[in-house]
Amino acid sequence: MSIDPNDYEFLSSLVAKRSGLALGAGKEYLLEARLLPIANSLGLTSLAELVRRLRTSRDESLAATITEAMTTNETLFFRDRTPFDELRDQLLPDMIAARQTTRRLRIWSAAASTGQEAYSLLMTLRESFPQLAGWRIEMIGTDISQQALAKAKNGIYSQFEVQRGLPIQLLVKYFRQVPQGWQITDDLRSSVTFRTLNLLESFTSLGEFDLIFCRNVLIYFEQINKTAILDRMEKQLRSDGYLVLGAAETVLGVTNRFQRVRTCKSAVYSPTKSLQTV
Ligand SMILES: C[S@@+](CC[C@H](N)C(=O)[O-])C[C@H]1O[C@@H](n2cnc3c(N)ncnc32)[C@H](O)[C@@H]1O
Repeated sequence: MSIDPNDYEFLSSLVAKRSGLALGAGKEYLLEARLLPIANSLGLTSLAELVRRLRTSRDESLAATITEAMTTNETLFFRDRTPFDELRDQLLPDMIAARQTTRRLRIWSAAASTGQEAYSLLMTLRESFPQLAGWRIEMIGTDISQQALAKAKNGIYSQFEVQRGLPIQLLVKYFRQVPQGWQITDDLRSSVTFRTLNLLESFTSLGEFDLIFCRNVLIYFEQINKTAILDRMEKQLRSDGYLVLGAAETVLGVTNRFQRVRTCKSAVYSPTKSLQTV
């Protein structure tokens, strides 16, 4: 089945405008694979009919469903491993020492998807920093995809998902077996707040963070959106805080508000404003 170029343009602009995701050219197969099931569920037989429905009805919830269907929610526990090791060995010890008075840490998983990143961060804290017991640790996970967030909140993962990246001793300690697979313990689940948030929109209401993980999402965005989001994130990051991007992401050529933390192998950045305060 081929997609009319005008319909392709209509759908890719709708998704880009609503989420920032830049589909680019030649992704007809992806549109079909993701959107044809939505069309079929409405009794429509083609993407052309789906586009006609969208053009005529201006159905907000259909537009949101389509946008959500085009997101890539791929994630895993302790993805890329090194950022979590560097957090444990280099970044957190100093940060914890600096916050002995406030005894408070705020962490944001900014494209949390189905929650593995936020839970990996929490497990890192629990495993390596018992001195944080009694501290106020706020872990917030946000994403545009309500479906992904529903799974994150439930915290139930398949055997396959827990086998990817999760050490067995952490599985035993922080999960319990349920009929559908493995569920994160209530204690850990209640330590994260997951909420819907579109990174294209304002996130000032989230407050200021010590650590922002924004991994494997900006890679899908146009440069102009990357710059705008990173510049706004810098405003939400404490001057001695850190931003962690995905392995294939960089701030180079995107913004000068962050500088690479040279001692880290992974994509860890600190705000350049920290230079002005020393
Ligand atoms: C590939 S996952 C990354 C998950 C996790 N951070 C990781 O690195 O494993 C990308 C996530 O970004 C989310 N996303 C895409 N566009 C977004 C937007 N405009 N605002 C917030 N989240 C968005 C998707 O729904 C998806 O869950």
